Amino acid sequence: MKEVRVGICGLGTVGGGTFRVLARNASLIAGRAGCNIRVTRVATRTPRADLDLGGIPFTTDVFDVVNDPDIDVVVELIGGYEPARELVLAAIAKGKHVVTANKALIAVHGNEIFEAAEEKGVIVAFEAGVAGGIPVIKSIREGMAANRIDTIAGIINGTGNYILTEMRAGREFAEVLREAQDLGYAEADPTFDVEGVDAAHKLTILASTGFGVPLQFTRAYTEGISTITPYDIAHAELLGYRIKHLGIARRRDDGIELRVHPTLVPRSHLIAQVDGVLNAVLVDGDAVGQTMYYGPGAGAEATASAVIADIVDVARSVIYQSGQRVPYLGFDPGAVEDLNVLSMDDIQSAYYLRIQALDRPGVLAKVSSILSEHGINIESIMQKESELKDGRIPVIILTHTVQERQMNRAIEDLEALADVEGQVVRIRAENFN
Ligand code: HSE
Repeated sequence: MKEVRVGICGLGTVGGGTFRVLARNASLIAGRAGCNIRVTRVATRTPRADLDLGGIPFTTDVFDVVNDPDIDVVVELIGGYEPARELVLAAIAKGKHVVTANKALIAVHGNEIFEAAEEKGVIVAFEAGVAGGIPVIKSIREGMAANRIDTIAGIINGTGNYILTEMRAGREFAEVLREAQDLGYAEADPTFDVEGVDAAHKLTILASTGFGVPLQFTRAYTEGISTITPYDIAHAELLGYRIKHLGIARRRDDGIELRVHPTLVPRSHLIAQVDGVLNAVLVDGDAVGQTMYYGPGAGAEATASAVIADIVDVARSVIYQSGQRVPYLGFDPGAVEDLNVLSMDDIQSAYYLRIQALDRPGVLAKVSSILSEHGINIESIMQKESELKDGRIPVIILTHTVQERQMNRAIEDLEALADVEGQVVRIRAENFN
């Protein structure tokens, strides 16, 4: 049987998982690929005693893998921007195919990398970069190729979802984050998970594959979950909603919305039921309607599953000499539209507001009248006498959909009221209608 030779750069959580699954399912994978997938070199700075490399030579310099003339496919699992970018560009320059799980690299440098790969006629595959083990990139690029896609939204960071889920059960943020790190879910810098940067990387890639627009990570809006309190989680539940950290990409005629922030989702919606490290991505196509892709969004073997699927894709193309089957972002470069990401002022959303009000007569009337002056309709308003403390009482409001610009102005006016203390807490809400 023929073989395709693979070099793995990085033997951390995902690298270790990839190595293990390739070894365990070798003959099954060979059957699917039409050839043996042989790992001929591994690069890692920290050798792992728990992994039996079975005599495969290992190096501490990732560039040794790129420079090895016998390697067909470089699997980049070191993460981060550099030296990953340099490594991938060097591999492409040497005519090697690349498989990567590095969403940060693709979201930020993908336009440059794809252009280089196009020139050299090699493949760059990145399924594992988005939503871990869920084959969502393949689903959008291939399975939904007939559709105009206008909305892609979902839970695309396992660590954040794990934290929010455990907080709902009353656990403390810092303790749950440590646990997610121990389980191998979190990024090397966990603020990427908690502040929405990791989700914005993934959303950037999803939006480009779904809408046919260039990768524009720097235009993505990110808001993290570190400000979400158990109080807001409980009150959202009382209103019939659950707080999820969502990535939302919407295609409009004048641009695209690209935003990551905590969001109220109706408790009855499937997305609200997705707990723990699991991810779920909703993709709305004009022909098929709403589809959802659900599964483990992080973890060693779950992510390895997507890495190996890409290796198999590349191997098939090497064996059958068919070149890149599908364009990187699912659209021919000539068909990419110059559609820009809209400013956050122009997005449309419903809002949950928490206002710390002084317990004086007429406060609710003033609050409602400010919202109405700004054209904002209230869906529910809630104030509980039992929460009155030191003359202050929280007012919880859920609004209908408005433009963010209107809401910003209304919040400014609310915060200027003598009866309102501190900043108004705002969490955006989505009904997915
Ligand atoms: N830190 C990421 C997450 C890993 O928690 O989703 C998978 O991309």
